[in-house]
Amino acid sequence: MTDQNKISFRTAVLTVSDRGARGEREDLSGKALEDLLRDNGFEVASRDIVPDELDEIRDTLIRWVEEEGFALIVTTGGTGLTPRDVTPQATLSVIDYEVPGIAEAMRAESLKKTPHAMLSRAVAGVRKQSLIVNVPGSPRAAVENLEVVIPALFHGLSKLAGDPSECAT
Ligand code: MTE
Repeated sequence: MTDQNKISFRTAVLTVSDRGARGEREDLSGKALEDLLRDNGFEVASRDIVPDELDEIRDTLIRWVEEEGFALIVTTGGTGLTPRDVTPQATLSVIDYEVPGIAEAMRAESLKKTPHAMLSRAVAGVRKQSLIVNVPGSPRAAVENLEVVIPALFHGLSKLAGDPSECAT
């Protein structure tokens, strides 16, 4: 598997933040995730910011799947416990099925760094042929979580795109 192969997966990053959407906070998390994806050979075709509004998150995810067909969509923010945190609910409302191992792995690894990791309700799942992964909102947490997923991404996205080959043993 080469970076040449990875580059064919078009990805997008959605920052979910009331303050970011109002222009009151620089989108450092979106930028950090974009850098991490690029450094690992993925094409970041789009980045956007929406407020913590279920309908806006949902509409963007649906549009990015149905119209853009991104292979991977990473959301950052809105996974915690405040009344405004609705990213997991929005994600669950648009996916066809969950990929629980991704969120399990992110929380398991993150718990080695901070007990606060258990407060992220991040989910991951598939709509059509797009994988959607939630990560928390701070730049550090966003990167720490996505780093856990990256080693399995190429294989997962290949399978999602219909690669019929046997999984390596
Ligand atoms: N995971 C890692 N790896 N590192 C972190 O610093 N912060 C936690 C958690 N997950 C954190 C983490 C905290 S403090 C919260 S409140 C939750 O993610 C939810 O964050 P969010 O509301 O910004 O999505």
